[in-house]
Amino acid sequence: MRYAKYLTLFIGNYVIQRISLVYTLTECDSFPWFKKWSGSILLIILRFTKKCVFVLGGIPFEKKERRWGGAFMGRLKAETFKQRRQWDKAANIWVEFVRSGKNYYTEYLNGPALKQMVGNVKGRRVLDLGCGEGCLSRLFAKTGAEVVGIDLSEALIKAARAEEERHPLGVRYFAADAADLNMIDSQSFDLAYCHMALADIPDYEGAIAEVSRVLKTRGRFVVVMPHPCFSIRPLDGKMVADWETRLGEDGSKRYLYYRVEDYFQRYSYSWEWKHNRLDSSFVTTGFHRTLSDYINTLTKHRLVVTRFDEPKPLEKGVKLHPPMKKHYRIPQSLIIEATKTI
Ligand SMILES: C[S@@+](CC[C@H](N)C(=O)[O-])C[C@H]1O[C@@H](n2cnc3c(N)ncnc32)[C@H](O)[C@@H]1O
Repeated sequence: MRYAKYLTLFIGNYVIQRISLVYTLTECDSFPWFKKWSGSILLIILRFTKKCVFVLGGIPFEKKERRWGGAFMGRLKAETFKQRRQWDKAANIWVEFVRSGKNYYTEYLNGPALKQMVGNVKGRRVLDLGCGEGCLSRLFAKTGAEVVGIDLSEALIKAARAEEERHPLGVRYFAADAADLNMIDSQSFDLAYCHMALADIPDYEGAIAEVSRVLKTRGRFVVVMPHPCFSIRPLDGKMVADWETRLGEDGSKRYLYYRVEDYFQRYSYSWEWKHNRLDSSFVTTGFHRTLSDYINTLTKHRLVVTRFDEPKPLEKGVKLHPPMKKHYRIPQSLIIEATKTI
């Protein structure tokens, strides 16, 4: 009888945590505190009622979650699982956006900055972390590098592999979490880069640790990412960092200055990709961290910053897309080169 009571409470605890998990995996962000703490709150209540057995039996839902049924990874954290689902859902729109040449920030700002920082990688082993549908993996493979592309989204990796089949360049693609590169040997790459994906990776510390592991000594890690000081982001439904704009007499948008609040608050947010260059809108998750979070994490994993830049758009890009001119005043992105020490 005593055990039946424990069993009932244990099952109750488990069911509530599963509900919390399902809630976590939805795009609904109205009660972020509930998402974060509900599992733990339950455990605390049980502790007060001296049902300590449930503290042992319960799994706070923010911990690792098992994905059932043929997953490429046995266990994924809830946020990573959600991110993968979102990018899988967005894959077709993203592929069309990139391959039809509408991603002009990559073409005229961040792509050229990456190419310049990476330099000549002919004959080198190169890892593309968060490769998406593989446009940059193909670019470096064409220059003679041996490229491996990793992305969380199975749908994007499928699109990258299909392109590799159509026009073989010898790029190998894996669907994996950047924080768990178990298919890659330690000390096997000359260079890794991550283009516009580190701020999308839930476990960025795990990803940096993995990059450090798979790089050879004196290998380089090049990161291009939205500038954490000037990235456009909401907090609790309000834009806390964005351009202040005004409509000019001719009806065009004037970018006056950049406004930033709550820089030191780390959090995740839902980001709706919605503009006229996309076939339709989609939602992914962004993570706001500070610049020092990134630099200190790199250093902690023996990746020492050897070059740093805040790139400006190419003139051609500004001519074709005049709103890019605002990045002559305030950077959109930054680029870091970190070198692995002994
Ligand atoms: C903005 S896209 C950039 C894609 C590509 N680098 C490009 O520039 O076209 C961000 C990418 O990060 C990937 N991503 C997010 N979380 C990841 C993770 N934990 N591990 C690997 N890739 C991840 C997404 O699937 C998505 O393809």
